[in-house]
Amino acid sequence: MSYLASPKRYQSMEYRRCGHSGLQLPAISLGLWHNFGDTTLFDNSRDMLLCAFDLGITHFDLANNYGPPPGSAETNFGRILQQDLMPYRDEMVISSKAGYTMWEGPYGDWGSKKYLIASLNQSLKRMGLDYVDIFYHHRPDPNTPLEETMGALDLIVRQGKALYVGLSNYPAETARQAIKILRDLGTPCLIHQPKYSMFERWVEGGLLDVLQDEGVGSIAFSPLAGGLLTDRYLHGIPPDSRAAHSKFLKPEAITEQKLGQIKKLNDMALARGQKLSQMALAWVLRGDRITSVLIGASRTSQIEDAVGMLENRHFSAEEISAIERILAS
Ligand SMILES: NC(=O)c1ccc[n+]([C@@H]2O[C@H](COP(=O)([O-])OP(=O)(O)OC[C@H]3O[C@@H](n4cnc5c(N)ncnc54)[C@H](OP(=O)(O)O)[C@@H]3O)[C@@H](O)[C@H]2O)c1
Repeated sequence: MSYLASPKRYQSMEYRRCGHSGLQLPAISLGLWHNFGDTTLFDNSRDMLLCAFDLGITHFDLANNYGPPPGSAETNFGRILQQDLMPYRDEMVISSKAGYTMWEGPYGDWGSKKYLIASLNQSLKRMGLDYVDIFYHHRPDPNTPLEETMGALDLIVRQGKALYVGLSNYPAETARQAIKILRDLGTPCLIHQPKYSMFERWVEGGLLDVLQDEGVGSIAFSPLAGGLLTDRYLHGIPPDSRAAHSKFLKPEAITEQKLGQIKKLNDMALARGQKLSQMALAWVLRGDRITSVLIGASRTSQIEDAVGMLENRHFSAEEISAIERILAS
């Protein structure tokens, strides 16, 4: 069946300006790190992408190494684009990244110009695209001059292979330096992609201040802490959950203390008339410093849950304090 996007797709999503740029991003974006590789059902991946687009999620986040195997999320995304979404390409913001190990030898990792240019060429081929909207350096490289890595990002934009560039996992001071280099090169940094959730708050120690000062947007990855900040683990570890099958969320991470916090947060969310996953996303978006929350999903209902969050995003001062007390308990 050929896909026709929902005519209601722009009715409920909120779009937020990304820093001082002209680009608006949906409050909720979808990442393809898990559940889009070759080890999951292609039809489920397709259903999730189409469901997201129908709900106004216009931004899809990839990286060279997403799979497994590495590269397969981009290949599968490319198939779904060709099959269903290409007529809507100009309604979509597609990102990719390079910075982690991708191929053997000295040119398939970190932050050299050699690696970044080659990797993006491969990503474009896998996705069947002429350009991505955003290309990120995925993590800082302590052994390559920042000038070289930022020079590669600038070159990529000048070559027309990306419209904007971003940084991911850069600590505050390195981010400030990189943002300055990019500005001097004439390619402003659009966005930073850090990990941020109730359980992971390092960005509050300076990075968000830098981004605000510099007019750079932000997209928070793993806002549900990989699924911990949901009702998924309240009664054990379900066999189809990330903790049961991914090396990136080990059962040991679900400690008694964490579970205690999750239960209290869950009670609080229910009292607000929403799910814990929804409260956790709303919390990341509180204030104006995060442009978009970058969720993952294993089924369409989780994407619907995330978008449902938009109906109740407000927190009273008492609720914010109560969350702080729970997180400190
Ligand atoms: N830049 C980087 O270094 C970096 C690193 C990591 C991720 N990212 C990006 O961030 C994206 C999101 O990361 P993430 O997948 O860790 O995000 P997340 O939103 O914290 O976790 C997503 C997982 O939570 C569970 N979940 C989601 N909604 C739920 C609901 N309503 N009820 C119950 N469980 C729910 C699902 O796990 P189950 O499988 O258990 O159902 C889902 O796969 C990635 O796809 C990627 O694009 C970037």
